[in-house]
Amino acid sequence: PVKEDRTSSCCRLEDLKRLPQFANKLGPLSFSPTHTVLIDVHFFNCEKKLKTQDGRDMWYSTFVKMPTSPASFMTKTGFMKGTTKVRRWDGITKQLSRLAGEKSVSVSKLKETIISINPKYKDEWSFDALSEFVERVPKTDNYFGELFPKIAALALKLPDYVTKAIPLLQSGHPASITLSQVQISCLLANAFFCTFPHRNATASNAEYHNYPSINFSSLFGKRSERKKEKLRAIMHYFKVVTDESTKPEGLVTFERRCLRHADLPHWKSCEETMTKLHVTSQGTIETEGTGLLQVDFASSWIGGGILGDGLVQEEILFLINPELIVSRLFTEKLSDNECLIITGCQQYSRYSGFSDSFEWGGPYEEHLRRDEWKRLQRQILAIDALHFRNWRDQFTMSKVTRELNKAYCGFKGHGYNEPDIATGKWGCGAFNGDPQLKAVIQLMAAAKAKRGLAYFTFKDEELKQGLEQIHRLLVTSDTTVGKLFHILEDFCAVQSTSASREDLFKFISSIVRPSRSQL
Ligand code: AR6
Repeated sequence: PVKEDRTSSCCRLEDLKRLPQFANKLGPLSFSPTHTVLIDVHFFNCEKKLKTQDGRDMWYSTFVKMPTSPASFMTKTGFMKGTTKVRRWDGITKQLSRLAGEKSVSVSKLKETIISINPKYKDEWSFDALSEFVERVPKTDNYFGELFPKIAALALKLPDYVTKAIPLLQSGHPASITLSQVQISCLLANAFFCTFPHRNATASNAEYHNYPSINFSSLFGKRSERKKEKLRAIMHYFKVVTDESTKPEGLVTFERRCLRHADLPHWKSCEETMTKLHVTSQGTIETEGTGLLQVDFASSWIGGGILGDGLVQEEILFLINPELIVSRLFTEKLSDNECLIITGCQQYSRYSGFSDSFEWGGPYEEHLRRDEWKRLQRQILAIDALHFRNWRDQFTMSKVTRELNKAYCGFKGHGYNEPDIATGKWGCGAFNGDPQLKAVIQLMAAAKAKRGLAYFTFKDEELKQGLEQIHRLLVTSDTTVGKLFHILEDFCAVQSTSASREDLFKFISSIVRPSRSQL
């Protein structure tokens, strides 16, 4: 039997609620005005098989503008005829069919193809990272030349695979999209060849200026060691999805949630007390947190630097689960009261290291079960913390409240028996947040949402011990979320007048007195 730790109020990881045991009864798959499903729902419910849902093109500002749209044109400069306009998809088909027919394709040929689809960027886009990557991988493991034609063939399937228009998940509008993993692979194959129209411009008045980038051009240039490892993970994904024997066969749902003004908690007067907590300095959210709602330390531009040089928690998550990348196609920048929840994405790769030490670690064998909608039982919650360029800025109650609301928006359950949450040093790396403050904020949001937390401090032993102690104190004193909010107000006031860095846990310990001697 496990010896009980009488000095801790924390629970074991096994005591938290996980997805498989507690999955809701979903009922038949259905669509609604706020839930778009890109596969034939009736066929799915009757046959349990996937078939493309028929639909028509929507060349409107509220839908993804597709390269297959009859309304989309590209200019072609011919030797004889000068500049002519051709249907975008006709031009793309011509180019990609050439590649798809080859047994092996070089990077320079690939480059030529991508540029012919995007002639405006001929002098701007570089492919040095991709070239160097392909050159440097040893011959025995160098399958890329043969992979490129397969990605082209997959991209060409777009008019068969995706016929229903994809709505944009716009700011202020809670809505979801369910699509198959095959549809995602086809959309990502198009992103690889940079076929999405209107998605290359970055100016502040560009049509998609409030959306993350989706075309992969930025991944191919500006060579670096990081790019090399990132490309290995991405190529591995395409290798799996283009192989008939390994291609994935389930669904994935992307859900944008918005907390309405009326639902924002009145933090000062919250009566909730602390929920279950498991703290550990070992393990990671994505591995040991399997089956819990796993927090993505996100950027408001979902996926952050995934297609650039970024390589911290969110980018790594997107590299090992590349289906997440498709969220960039339709998810508008997250506002303060919004989050994105992704259910069902597959893990394809292992990894080791972090940031500059990140290395692709080979294929990952997926072992998760699927729910009634054929979605893998993996749920990821993207919440973006604030980026504090100046460390002091976070100690004001407007910022604290913003972070409380953001975390609560993600943590708030929408049904019964939802899993507990796996999180950690959210906002405390690239975004420069204070680990103690962020931990208290997440404890408060979890208490309000009445969900347990697994807290992975990522080798930070001091934070682990401090958090355990503070949780015990808060539990034994029955401290409410409202009381903690007042303590944070006082702490911010102290920090604003102090020249040095104050310790929040010490501050709380100096105010709160345990009222119960035993747990
Ligand atoms: N499991 C648990 N903890 C982790 C893990 C993991 N797998 N990986 C890292 N940590 P960071 P942020 C710890 O910097 O500050 C991206 O570009 C580790 O201690 O990724 O919220 C996004 O797109 C790390 O220092 O999150 C955003 O733009 C800490 O978590 C931006 O970074 C914070 O990880 C978000 O930055």
